[in-house]
Amino acid sequence: MPEQPFKKVFIFLDTDKHASPFDILTTIDIFQDVLILKYENVTVEDAEKIIYDAMFPRGPEGARQTKIFINGRDFKRVNEILEKIKNCMFPPFELAIIVDPRGAYTTASAAVAKTLELSLEKGFGDLENKAITVLAGTGPVGQTAARLYASEKAKVIVTSRSLQRASSVATKINEELKGEMVRGVEVQTLEEIGKALENAEIVLSAGAAGVQLLPFDTLKEYGKNCKIVADINAIPPLGVEGLKLEADGEEILPNIFGIGALTIGKFKNKVEAELIKRATEEPKGIFDYKIAYEIAKKAILKKFEERPEKHWLP
Ligand SMILES: NC(=O)c1ccc[n+]([C@@H]2O[C@H](COP(=O)([O-])OP(=O)(O)OC[C@H]3O[C@@H](n4cnc5c(N)ncnc54)[C@H](OP(=O)(O)O)[C@@H]3O)[C@@H](O)[C@H]2O)c1
Repeated sequence: MPEQPFKKVFIFLDTDKHASPFDILTTIDIFQDVLILKYENVTVEDAEKIIYDAMFPRGPEGARQTKIFINGRDFKRVNEILEKIKNCMFPPFELAIIVDPRGAYTTASAAVAKTLELSLEKGFGDLENKAITVLAGTGPVGQTAARLYASEKAKVIVTSRSLQRASSVATKINEELKGEMVRGVEVQTLEEIGKALENAEIVLSAGAAGVQLLPFDTLKEYGKNCKIVADINAIPPLGVEGLKLEADGEEILPNIFGIGALTIGKFKNKVEAELIKRATEEPKGIFDYKIAYEIAKKAILKKFEERPEKHWLP
């Protein structure tokens, strides 16, 4: 045991060439005296070696102050690293692991929770049985959002320019959740995008940065059942034409209320900070999209619980 208490250390394992400063800066801003170690271009084999060398030198007490943050654009490798290092650890040397690949888990959690908030706010109820379309839901953010909606028992369509990619996301989620909540649909034309959202009550646009997926006229023509439209692309052109970055429930068409990418981004930052704090308070555990969504949903529901009328609560 050192004379001083063990210093809090965050070890960033990033699959990218350069570790993202985003999450490192978020961590530094939460704790005044945290030490950061970062490893880049990390493979599954590298991760195993790094974890073994991080588990033992400070003993079980030090391990409680050593946190792992897995990051990177390579969604598949991030998950392989997680599986590998989960299997390396054993009591009493287990380290808490945060997983948020390029912000996907906290962004998806924030987006889904914000649409739940607006749905409750407008009296449309919770997400169960809602028809929801996730446009371009094949990226890390979109597939996580689709999984969260499905876990809320919504009926989800995931679109992609490729039927194979859309179906593969749908199959994976359905298998994991042991249900048939998600369906993959190929969209190449504006008409096909329109058809994919014509039954949706909630549309989440989850496309790549700087790609417009949903023109205003397409939403107007096909969005007859749509009540809420949200976008997570903050880089112009935005994902949904006519939906402002800072929109937070404003009507963009009669009876269609919007949530913009900056509104989701601001909430995402709070969710991530809370996720990091949670992992620091706990000696071990996996802090991934499930915990991120639990944090986001709790924050949303708390707002409503503090109100005098609670009849709308799920
Ligand atoms: N607000 C925040 O705090 C925050 C944080 C993280 C990410 N983001 C944003 O969230 C969005 C999604 O992130 P991500 O990493 O999941 O995205 P991504 O993997 O880069 O892209 C998502 C999907 O967009 C589709 N796509 C790509 N180029 C396209 C094009 N030219 N036309 C139509 N579709 C196209 C692709 O689907 P198919 O190839 O299958 O069609 C892709 O799987 C991005 O806009 C990102 O900037 C926001």
